[in-house]
Amino acid sequence: MASIADQLSNLLGSAFESHGLSRELGRVSPSKKNPELAPFQCNGAMPAAKQAGKPPREIAQSIVDAIADSELLASVEIAGPGFINLTPAPAMYQNRARELAGDARSGVARVDEPQKVMIDFGGPNVAKPMHVGHLRSSVLGDSLQRIFRFLGHEVVSDIHLGDWGLQMGHLITELKEEQPDLVYFDAEVTEGYPSEPPVDIEDLARLYPQASSKAKSDEARLELSREATAELQAGRAGYRALLRHFINVSIAALKQDFGNLGVHFDLWKGESDVDPLIPAMVQDFKDRGVAEESDGAWVVRVAREGDKKELAPLILVTRGGAALYGTTDLATILDRKQAEAPDLTLYVVDLGQSDHFEQVFRAADKAGLAADGALEHVKFGTVNGPDGKRLRTRDGGTFRLADLIGSAITRAGERLDEAGLAKDGDADEKAATARMVGLAAIKFADLQNYRTTNYIFDLDRFTSFEGKTGPYLLYAAVRVKSLMRKAEAEGVTAGDILVHADEERDLVLALDAFGAAVDQAAENRAPNALCDHVFTLAQAFSKFYAACPVLIAEDEQTQASRLALAQTTLTQLELCLDLLGLEAPERM
Ligand code: ARG
Repeated sequence: MASIADQLSNLLGSAFESHGLSRELGRVSPSKKNPELAPFQCNGAMPAAKQAGKPPREIAQSIVDAIADSELLASVEIAGPGFINLTPAPAMYQNRARELAGDARSGVARVDEPQKVMIDFGGPNVAKPMHVGHLRSSVLGDSLQRIFRFLGHEVVSDIHLGDWGLQMGHLITELKEEQPDLVYFDAEVTEGYPSEPPVDIEDLARLYPQASSKAKSDEARLELSREATAELQAGRAGYRALLRHFINVSIAALKQDFGNLGVHFDLWKGESDVDPLIPAMVQDFKDRGVAEESDGAWVVRVAREGDKKELAPLILVTRGGAALYGTTDLATILDRKQAEAPDLTLYVVDLGQSDHFEQVFRAADKAGLAADGALEHVKFGTVNGPDGKRLRTRDGGTFRLADLIGSAITRAGERLDEAGLAKDGDADEKAATARMVGLAAIKFADLQNYRTTNYIFDLDRFTSFEGKTGPYLLYAAVRVKSLMRKAEAEGVTAGDILVHADEERDLVLALDAFGAAVDQAAENRAPNALCDHVFTLAQAFSKFYAACPVLIAEDEQTQASRLALAQTTLTQLELCLDLLGLEAPERM
């Protein structure tokens, strides 16, 4: 089942090939600039001209001569320097629409060679509140896992908790200050700790900032946390038992937060999980000369000839014997290799960590832990405030994710009131709708930008029901759903699709572009292509619906055809929303 664009690409590819040129030159895509001239175009004649050493128009003409009689085409013309403009035969639209109508995947096939794809995203730190950077990672990573799964890949997602660093030392020492008599601090005791945690999530949220602010102004206090971290890593039993409690308490709270966001992880592993692998890994690196000694520390040199910027060595073990962020990342690669053997690992982490990942990937390469290109840093930019600088709270602190989501849902509720929407249900339904609209607002606002683009957090714009926003798309889906309900109530059923009106044809053209958008999103590891697509689709539906009455169409055949088009649109809209991690209510 091929899209119209692919069928035409095939036709032109063969034509280029028969002229001794490469098939790829025949790639046909929807016309962006002047779709009213012709819905599709092929620009292959220009590069072909270079290959063949002939004028592009001459090449274009010979391609056109070769395909002019094809039954796939209504017309074909050459424009400008050698653009080939293509108008498909009317039957193409009809056939394609009928195909899509009968397909729950809306024309997107699973890949022939599925890969095992590990996606490392979310990455919250135990005890530290999540901030907007974690939001971007979560929203983007979740959409990517949905897209890769939809394409038929085997995806394993891992939250990769930050649970091994200094913040753990902060928690331990601060708790000790508050409750010095807890058994965990008694060095004599090495087992039989209580199974009930000594803290809850509120305690963690209080202890960490308390300790970290003290440590900022007090070097001795910082040293205490450092020592505790080192003792923890060295295996002090009471501290290990505390760590387990902290992690469990955190995970329980995070599961709730991520559940509310609609974000799922297969694995809830953390940095601390790979600690047992580190000694042998370090020894192996030393034995094989992957790691070198430097000032009492062990490092992996990763600089390469021709580097534009000097890349510092990755510190495997500090002089004090501690493992660092790069060490746990390397051990995690080893762990995943043994447990999952992924073909590809995507790290959805802000671009501020680019050097870190470059170091880790090069070290992994040097140690032979991963095949070339199997580790990829999927970078993203910052969320900024109205001043164009990184988003901060009014008092200059980092924005807590929970507050951010809370304010989006509140604003969504106000918007619904302003627009006179979601009036019919009870308070619960209204709250649920506001939640879906609020989440759609921030998720879509994030995903619609290419990921490395920074954007300004503007709740008013994000929650608007007009323009390229999440709420607009939910509203579009709700409108089609309500049309379907009405049709059912009136006993109208979908039938064979006929494409007559321009708006019907344009809707089919929009529907036809889904597969290319999914492919592009997967290829670039960036769902913005899918955001563009779903917005175009919603607009095309809106124009269709305005111009082509469905339930009051002139005859039954037209009614049934348009209803089928609406149903097909709904299927694809819902697929798109799902791939973006958005959820639409039944009514609004
Ligand atoms: N916990 C880290 C942070 O908050 C992100 C973890 C990213 N993943 C990784 N494998 N390093 O910055």
